[in-house]
Parts: sequence; C-alpha cells; structure tokens
Amino acid sequence: MRKQIAAANWKMNLNYVQAKQLLSALASETYSLNHNRIVVLAVPFPYLHEAVTTFANYPYVFVAAQNCSDKKQGAYTGEVSVDMLNSLGVEFVIIGHSERREYYHEDNAMLANKVNITIEAGLVPIFCCGESLPIREANQQNEFVANQLKESLFHLDAQAIERVVIAYEPIWAIGTGKTATAEQAQDMLAFIRQQIQQQYGAEVAEKTSILYGGSVKGNNALELFTNSDVDGGLVGGASLVASEFVSIINSLK
Ligand code: PGA
Repeated sequence: MRKQIAAANWKMNLNYVQAKQLLSALASETYSLNHNRIVVLAVPFPYLHEAVTTFANYPYVFVAAQNCSDKKQGAYTGEVSVDMLNSLGVEFVIIGHSERREYYHEDNAMLANKVNITIEAGLVPIFCCGESLPIREANQQNEFVANQLKESLFHLDAQAIERVVIAYEPIWAIGTGKTATAEQAQDMLAFIRQQIQQQYGAEVAEKTSILYGGSVKGNNALELFTNSDVDGGLVGGASLVASEFVSIINSLK
C-alpha cells in the first residue's frame, strides 16, 4: 500500500510561543500511525529545529520545510539550502506551492531545479500543482496540470520519481473555504496517476502518494480521503488547530 499522508502547511503563521504550544499539543494527542500512514509538519524555517526535537521519538511524524533555495550554497542572502535542512533533521520539502509560484514568481523550470537538489540531498519533495479558477472554468485543468508535471518532474528517472509526493491543490480552493468536491479531487488525482503511469509504468504510478489540498477540514477529510486515488491531504488553515488536524489525521485510510 502506498503511503497515506496528513501534511500540515502552517505557512507564515504563529509566533514562536504559539508554535511551541501547537507542537506540544500535537505531540500529546493520540492518533494511530505506521509506515504507511504518516504525518508531515511543514513549519516555518525558524521553528524547524523545535519541531524536529519535539517529534524525535515519533517514528511516523516527519518535519518539512515549506520551501528551499534552488542554489546549493553561497552568496544568496536570505536563502535556505537543502543541506541546512538536512543537517537539522528535516526530511520533506514543499516545492512549488501556488503561493510561491504566484508571489515569488517560481516557474516550472526553477521548480524542476529545486526538485533535483531536494532529491539529491536525500529529502522528499512534496511537489504542488494545480490550476487557477479561469483555467478550471475553461475546463483546461488537465492540460495545465499535465504541463506542470512534465516541465518540473518528468525529467526524473523512475528511481527518483518514486521519492516524490505530489499534492494537487486547485488555487481556487486554497484558503477560500471552497473545497473541490470529492469527485473533482478524485478525478484529478486519477488523471495525475495516469500521467505518471504513461511516463513510468503502472508499478511506479501505484506507488506514488498523491495528496489533495485546498480547504481540507476535519469535517470533509473523510469524504475526500475515502476516494481510491486520494492518499491524504496538504492542509493549511485547519492544521493550525490541533483538534482539527488530529481529526484529519484520523481520516486517513
Ligand atoms: P488551506 O491551504 O487548507 O488553508 O486551503 C492549503 C494549502 O495551501 O496548502
């Protein structure tokens, strides 16, 4: 069975005191995890060490960065390298979130580069893709997402692609309270799996974890995750409330 993943994306929220409170609240909650049912916490850079330390004895809770530099090291003021993340015990990195694409102009070519250096460093990229509302209204979401995959991921060989987690996040559903229907999520995730199958074969496609993101909450997670191609969620707003996120974790297959 491929991994089912509840991934929290805190974005640029919470001060240090609040972050520590949320980490310890999450650490004291009960949920059942195993090798195929994991939690990933993408916290802001300044809290990575705290998160890694808090969950040091939780074998199925992993810490993620929300971004990384496309450069390996050197004179890039303000950037954070994959080596720095690695040395902190961070194991996942969100790559290509739509907010980075939109506000920081990260394009498919730059993201291909970030995917490469993330994998080379032994970290797992959570690669985000997804269309805007006008593209959905023009019914061009499949072509759009297929192109994002092609330009940022499909240069990888089969061994490398197996390390990638994909998160489909329709931009019109992020932070808007407007969730894709379970059917829309399932359709797109099945389409993404089919693209992987065409490129790498059925075995690789079957092993790839594909998440849905966009207004996932405690009260809709179960309906979304029940679908055969939905391997969990990338969760923004609802991951800032321990009880909400725990109910999302408990909705994993
Ligand atoms: P949301 O964010 O759950 O607040 O919609 C999801 C995301 O952007 O990862």
